[in-house]
Amino acid sequence: MKIEEVKSTVKTQRISSHSHIKGLGLDENGVPIPVAAGLVGQEEAREAAGIVVEMIKSKRMAGRAVLMAGPPGTGKTAIALAMAQELGSKVPFCPMVGSEVFSSEIKKTEVLMENFRRAIGLRVKETKEVYEGEVTELTPVETENPMGGYGKTVSHVIIGLKTAKGTKQLKLDPSIHESLTKEKVEVGDVIYIEANSGAVKRQGRSDTYATEYDLEAEEYVPLPKGDVHKKKEVIQDVTLHDLDVANARPQGGQDILSMMGQLVKSKKTEITDKLRMEINKVVNKYIDQGTAELVPGVLFIDEVHMLDIETFTYLHQALESSIAPIVIFATNRGRCEVRGAEDIISPHGMPLDLLDRLLIIRTLPYDKNEMSQILKLRAQTEGLNIDNDALVQLSHIGANSTLRYSVQLLTPASLTAKVNGRAIISKEDVIEVSTLFLDAKSSSKILSQHKDKYMK
Ligand SMILES: Nc1ncnc2c1ncn2[C@@H]1O[C@H](COP(=O)(O)OP(=O)(O)O)[C@@H](O)[C@H]1O
Ligand SMILES: [Mg+2]
Repeated sequence: MKIEEVKSTVKTQRISSHSHIKGLGLDENGVPIPVAAGLVGQEEAREAAGIVVEMIKSKRMAGRAVLMAGPPGTGKTAIALAMAQELGSKVPFCPMVGSEVFSSEIKKTEVLMENFRRAIGLRVKETKEVYEGEVTELTPVETENPMGGYGKTVSHVIIGLKTAKGTKQLKLDPSIHESLTKEKVEVGDVIYIEANSGAVKRQGRSDTYATEYDLEAEEYVPLPKGDVHKKKEVIQDVTLHDLDVANARPQGGQDILSMMGQLVKSKKTEITDKLRMEINKVVNKYIDQGTAELVPGVLFIDEVHMLDIETFTYLHQALESSIAPIVIFATNRGRCEVRGAEDIISPHGMPLDLLDRLLIIRTLPYDKNEMSQILKLRAQTEGLNIDNDALVQLSHIGANSTLRYSVQLLTPASLTAKVNGRAIISKEDVIEVSTLFLDAKSSSKILSQHKDKYMK
């Protein structure tokens, strides 16, 4: 199994409308602070979510599932994302929407399985022989191309590494030059090079350069202690899906024919059940040996009523397996049909046997005061100025439709304000955009009033 060059395949999240949320906002006893970490109110749900986070952290949650249930716009998705933030970046969090399984290209269960494995982490600990230090010199040495023709090739690289204890100059293979370039290593960076594989890992910028320029994106690390050449415990966090992908990649050589083969082959590599079973076997072996540790993460399935009976059955089965993530479902449905099983009416449109193993967290509608506080936070995050009357008007609209709808009106309202020559969104702007756009409820009311005018 390849774990050396595993690239992370974490999904990018669509969280733009939740970017004000930084965590669950609990105090040290797990009690919600009314307004904290970007969250307002919804205190019972936040406290419950906090308990689930603790259970996940202490590994007492694997194979279990949580359902966030409540009307639209009551913060189900927001709280799930806050849980992800509380768990930290080392615990995998994979968000998906129920309808994602209905793709015309991939089997429903395949989509689920892939996301399942994105939500299971593996922390691999290995002791490796490495060269580590701050780069003091980086000189590629070029020679004439031995095959004739144009250009020069790199014959070797001279690199200087410094630690608190000493310095060393290394002469490295040209292949390492490529990894150095790929990791964008420069003088002043702290890196290590694995002696066996030649893999290069850039750890960050040496903190002696910290005042040089203040890029927030840059991570500063201290000058390594000990010798340049040493044994080091290397920890790598990957997900099972990362491993699947890395091992499914065609493993051809460097010659032109196999390169061509890789180009012609469709980009999507096939991950088969057989491959997954192989990976599981190796993973289990690593775990038994104590070189790896399983980190069950969170699979978040929003709008879970979109799943059908077949996918529910599959999910339920997968939850029974010894390698399973924690699943958080969210839905705004009450009693409804389970998709694909027309005659079964069930709470939240989920099969009863699955419901049976869930912890259910309820979210409740906000009052106007809470809505106006949330809208204020959103406006701040989006860099919009809004006056109090406008906030009151927006929360009034939110109370009659949903909070999400009134959050969405913020941006158009800021545009009308600008058109009307104002820098601050006022009540008139809110009223203007709310007459221009319809919320779902009024839209469906109009549809039913003028049934005969629309096509069926
Ligand atoms: N308690 C809260 N505190 C702060 N913002 C919230 C809160 N609840 C919801 N929001 C914000 O309101 C909007 C709608 O909430 P959302 O989580 O999408 O609702 P749901 O998933 O229940 O339909 C989002 O922009 C969300 O970030
Ligand atoms: Mg939602």
